[in-house]
Amino acid sequence: MDAMLKVTDLSVSYGHVEALRGVSVEVQQGQIVSIIGANGAGKTTLLRTISGMVKPLGGTVELQGRPLPKKPHKVVAEGVVHVPEGRKCFSGLTIRDNLLVGGYLSRGRQLEDSLQEQYKRFPILEQRKDQFAGTLSGGEQQMLAVARGLMSHPKILLLDEPSMGLAPIIVNQIYDLIRQIRESGITVLLVEQNARKALCVCDYAYVLENGRISLSGSGQELLQSDAVRKAYLGG
Ligand SMILES: Nc1ncnc2c1ncn2[C@@H]1O[C@H](COP(=O)(O)OP(=O)(O)OP(=O)(O)O)[C@@H](O)[C@H]1O
Ligand SMILES: [Mg+2]
Repeated sequence: MDAMLKVTDLSVSYGHVEALRGVSVEVQQGQIVSIIGANGAGKTTLLRTISGMVKPLGGTVELQGRPLPKKPHKVVAEGVVHVPEGRKCFSGLTIRDNLLVGGYLSRGRQLEDSLQEQYKRFPILEQRKDQFAGTLSGGEQQMLAVARGLMSHPKILLLDEPSMGLAPIIVNQIYDLIRQIRESGITVLLVEQNARKALCVCDYAYVLENGRISLSGSGQELLQSDAVRKAYLGG
């Protein structure tokens, strides 16, 4: 089966800093694929390159067998949507307006339907729709960031550290949400430092180490791997 998203031999540098070296990753349709790695491993760079915000030195990104455009707005229009590290909600805009920003590709009735769909999925966002996003808790802001991404009806959602800085009970809610997203037919590429959670939820995973893929396998295989246990799961 051809991969839905196929990253081949990607290399990225920031000046003299080599952030990614020959990275190849495949995501099959309908799966959750996780990338785990330490601080500075290159996880965010990988997602930013896929979504057209960083230009690679070399390598290719294909969606359903065709090269992905290199401009961020065109990537979104192809159905690849990035939920950034640190949520990046527009804190001075209302929750409703944050969602409308995410739905900028739709108009009129279609846009209103998308909004209602997200309110149904996240009742808390409907209750607070006229509040500024900056008044939400960290977990609620993460939900808003995901809902904003879902507003453009992605084929694949790129999630950068959705559990960062959240209490364990909220992290569990976020992971339930990630499973629901997959069940609704959206493919997920998840990047996390929280290796245990990311390996438990995924169908397949890669370990990114200093800009290179050092290991890959099913979530279960990696949870049992000695190297992964030692480096990422506390022994
Ligand atoms: N805009 C930039 N300019 C220069 N160097 C950068 C830039 N962004 C990232 N880097 C460097 O590239 C490398 C990879 O960074 P990246 O943010 O992709 O890692 P990460 O795995 O997402 O880390 P974290 O877990 O801390 O989010 C690091 O050495 C980082 O310092
Ligand atoms: Mg990062």
